[in-house]
Amino acid sequence: MANKIIFPENFLWGAATASYQIEGAWNRHGKGESMWDRFTHTPGNIRSNDTGDIANDHYRLWKKDIGLMKKIGLQAYRFSISWPRVIPTGRGKVNQKGLDFYSKLVDGLLEAGITPFVTLYHWDLPQALDDEGGWAVRSTAEAFVDYANVISRALGDRVRNWMTHNEPASITWLGYAIGMHAPGLRDYSIALRAAHHLLVSHGHAVPVIRRNSPNSEVGIGLNINWVVPASNSAADLNAARSADGEWFRWFADPVYGRGYPSDKIEDYKKLGALPNGMDFVQTGDMNVIATPTDFIGLNYYNRNLLRASASNDDPQIVFPNPKTPEHWTEMDWENYPEGLTGILGRVYFNYNPLKIYITENGASYSTPPDENGNVPDVHRINYLRTHFVAMHRAIQAGVPLAGYFLWSLMDNFEWSFGYTQRFGIIWIDYETQKRTLKDSAKWYKGVIKKNGL
Ligand code: FCB
Repeated sequence: MANKIIFPENFLWGAATASYQIEGAWNRHGKGESMWDRFTHTPGNIRSNDTGDIANDHYRLWKKDIGLMKKIGLQAYRFSISWPRVIPTGRGKVNQKGLDFYSKLVDGLLEAGITPFVTLYHWDLPQALDDEGGWAVRSTAEAFVDYANVISRALGDRVRNWMTHNEPASITWLGYAIGMHAPGLRDYSIALRAAHHLLVSHGHAVPVIRRNSPNSEVGIGLNINWVVPASNSAADLNAARSADGEWFRWFADPVYGRGYPSDKIEDYKKLGALPNGMDFVQTGDMNVIATPTDFIGLNYYNRNLLRASASNDDPQIVFPNPKTPEHWTEMDWENYPEGLTGILGRVYFNYNPLKIYITENGASYSTPPDENGNVPDVHRINYLRTHFVAMHRAIQAGVPLAGYFLWSLMDNFEWSFGYTQRFGIIWIDYETQKRTLKDSAKWYKGVIKKNGL
């Protein structure tokens, strides 16, 4: 039998969600409209025109959900705050009821012995700010810093772990360049401005959060794939360089004080996406973006094995294994645990963050309840187990990995895919809002208890 795999003593086991994906109550108790409300209410954007209007009804059922977290034995819970629930029009007047919701949630978690990890921005921008240009305009970054101030003042006495943004790359490229996410724009030159303002807002918010929440740790959450060329051809190598630059280095490099990667600046110039150069970068911005953080959060799901396309199109993702559930999740993402060891090593040895959390990792499998009411999601368990082994390997190699947040605590609204994708370790019956622990939740409970495999 293989050796037992035991994690470091203080390793934190958690799960993650995001406000728009679970809360519902989109217009309750004074909440303002978010750009995701607008986007989902516009037919044609989301599979089956699903919306997050009700989602998991977590706004009402949060106590029950904390009970389930406790049952699983979670040590930490990563959730995000809906900006328009707290500041309905993005700046100015605070909606006390919205703030109270998060304050009670934090208290409930602490009572249950679960450490809250708060993400300030997981994509639900107040629509009023989107109407002014969203992240493409600098004033949104200023509004974000005020919002960060409001939240950290209200929760900073109890919350010790903060993330500014979740996946600025997804916001930038999916939201502003290819239009798959809100606000649905398709313009690389606007996207590059949005990326910059997101990063500037992060850098300005870090000291504000620290001031309001003494002894806390602040970081940002970046998504990272294990991007590799499908061959050693110059074209494939270039495809991998380019994709990795766009999705990871464009964000990680500035945060770690290296400025924007020059190879990508050249790419964007060629693309015509920088018609006025980098005119959106103001004096001092790059120093602000590089404000030291306490940790980096990494969201890792899959490998992208890239083959350049003959024309100028996007490269193809190559699938080397048969498309069985063992190798492929229902998102059409490869199950590639070795990539998790790879990205952890790369990020640590290349950027030297003080500490890393895996802030998202998980798999979409739609395995439903069986006749006994169990959810035998064996493929998810396989995915998780192999990724835990991969994490452990990175820790043994010296990576300061401090914790893991499984995506997701429960099935939820998966953005443009609507409710068709199920990432949860808790099954949600959207008709009745009944929650059922899947087999993976029971298995994860054992992992947490043993602190290993
Ligand atoms: C990440 C998002 C998260 C969820 C997972 C599957 O990109 O941060 O909200 O949708 O993907």
